[in-house]
Amino acid sequence: MELMAITAKGIAIKIRNFEIPDIRRVMEIEEQSFLDGDAGLYLELYEEWPEGFMVAEKEDKVIGFVVMVLTPEGEGRVFALAVDSRYRGGGVGRTLLKAAFAVLRKMKIWYVLLEVRVSNVVAQRLYRSMGFAEIGFVPFYYKDGEGAIEMRKVL
Ligand SMILES: CC(C)(COP(=O)(O)OP(=O)(O)OC[C@H]1O[C@@H](n2cnc3c(N)ncnc32)[C@H](O)[C@@H]1OP(=O)(O)O)[C@@H](O)C(=O)NCCC(=O)NCCS
Repeated sequence: MELMAITAKGIAIKIRNFEIPDIRRVMEIEEQSFLDGDAGLYLELYEEWPEGFMVAEKEDKVIGFVVMVLTPEGEGRVFALAVDSRYRGGGVGRTLLKAAFAVLRKMKIWYVLLEVRVSNVVAQRLYRSMGFAEIGFVPFYYKDGEGAIEMRKVL
């Protein structure tokens, strides 16, 4: 998968599949974003399903990424989504999610799930605006003990 896009806020980006040398930038963005992943886990998920891991590039620099996994029930799950803090609010996150959902639809997968920190109101707002609905709450979901809101969307 590779596509050029201009976000709703006018940032020109390329969305393409993750490649192994991208892992350094992915980890830099992940560290700014307080996600729970580690490089080994991301590379494992990439090996399991390479098309589920995409990056957004601006002028040949990775500025965001999305990682999806497939659930045993055959649904999609957004495992991680993050944008370089310098580029947040520019529509990159929304564009990455749209590209990820296009991959799921092509595979005839019609449901996508995700978990989001209770305190992460910015991401919750993005997900709601994209049609996600709250379906549950998982206490102590994250390593630091914070709970997660579970959300689901019909594609
Ligand atoms: C969540 C995240 C990926 C969104 O990426 P982004 O590129 O900044 O998001 P977008 O610019 O596409 O914004 C999409 C929507 O998010 C919401 N949003 C974005 N920035 C916001 C802000 N500063 N305050 C409130 N809402 C905001 C808005 O609803 C926005 O829609 P709008 O622009 O139409 O109003 C990014 O903020 C991020 O990397 N956060 C840290 C990691 C994280 O929380 N990941 C999600 C874990 S579940």
